[in-house]
Amino acid sequence: MNSERLRVELAGLSLANPTMLASGILGYSAETLKSVVEGGAGAVVTKSVGLNPRSGYVNPTVVQVACGLINAVGLPNPGIEAFTRDIREAKAVLKVPLIVSVYGFSFEEYAVVAEKAVKSGADAVELNVSCPHVKETGVEIGQNPEILAKVVGKVKGVVGKPVFVKLSPNVADIAEMAEAAVKAGADAITAINTVKAMAINIETAKPILSNKRGGLSGPAIKPIAVRCVYDIYERVKVPIIGCGGITSWRDAVEFILAGASAIQIGTAIALKGQGVFRSVIRGIDAYLKRKGFRSVKEIVGLAHRN
Ligand SMILES: Cc1cc2nc3c(=O)[nH]c(=O)nc-3n(C[C@H](O)[C@H](O)[C@H](O)COP(=O)(O)O)c2cc1C
Repeated sequence: MNSERLRVELAGLSLANPTMLASGILGYSAETLKSVVEGGAGAVVTKSVGLNPRSGYVNPTVVQVACGLINAVGLPNPGIEAFTRDIREAKAVLKVPLIVSVYGFSFEEYAVVAEKAVKSGADAVELNVSCPHVKETGVEIGQNPEILAKVVGKVKGVVGKPVFVKLSPNVADIAEMAEAAVKAGADAITAINTVKAMAINIETAKPILSNKRGGLSGPAIKPIAVRCVYDIYERVKVPIIGCGGITSWRDAVEFILAGASAIQIGTAIALKGQGVFRSVIRGIDAYLKRKGFRSVKEIVGLAHRN
């Protein structure tokens, strides 16, 4: 493999290759994150952490469906105070950028959690905006451009590290949300989080998940995610991190051609194991070589020029 061909610069972070661990798939511990890096990941994103500890929803929280998973785990997390120790430990052992995923139920919560994450050693924060805003019942932060911009603005005001904004596909126009986030200072856009979904047990006639509705991930959402990245690339200038259903190097290349500068892998790790990173990286490298490209950068957004 050619390390120069694979290296990418992402909003001030330098990644040895364009693959990243997506938020929430593996826990928070330094050991787990380290094993993903040993598997080849160019950067890791932690599970989302909020201000206060949460136990999440009762089981069942994940169900396998054709071509993917539906999950409604309910953001279980130890709270930022307890998590700062894990961030410090992870930072000490990881040789790749450590991105802490942050959520909140108010502007202030996002800012407090992001600031603590960065102070403990996060190289960047990724804002998970797929959670409800307490003052706007029922509306997710990432579904309202004004609320989204305010969250991003507040976080940018307190952290000196790159701020990634991870968008929800459950909106009419995801590029409008990307524009709002970038105007407010987002350094990169991650697209996408899970797609709203549900599954019903036909014998009991009951929804399978305890929360009834959940988020679909895995190969089923890949075409939706590719379209989202393509739409966003047309409207903003900051780097895009593609995510959603990537299981092979071909998927990864497709996202890069649509406009992604890096990609995240989630569900494929649960389905195929951590070896997926190595095979995706090798495949991207072989593709670039076969096509005569000298870097990943040369093919970012290429589908827009053809
Ligand atoms: C079990 C599970 C837990 C997740 N937890 C989070 C989370 O805490 N924060 C977040 O931003 N995204 C979370 N996600 C979404 C993933 O990071 C990713 O955006 C989504 O699953 C699509 O990518 P994939 O098809 O590669 O999994 C979770 C996904 C799954 C399947």
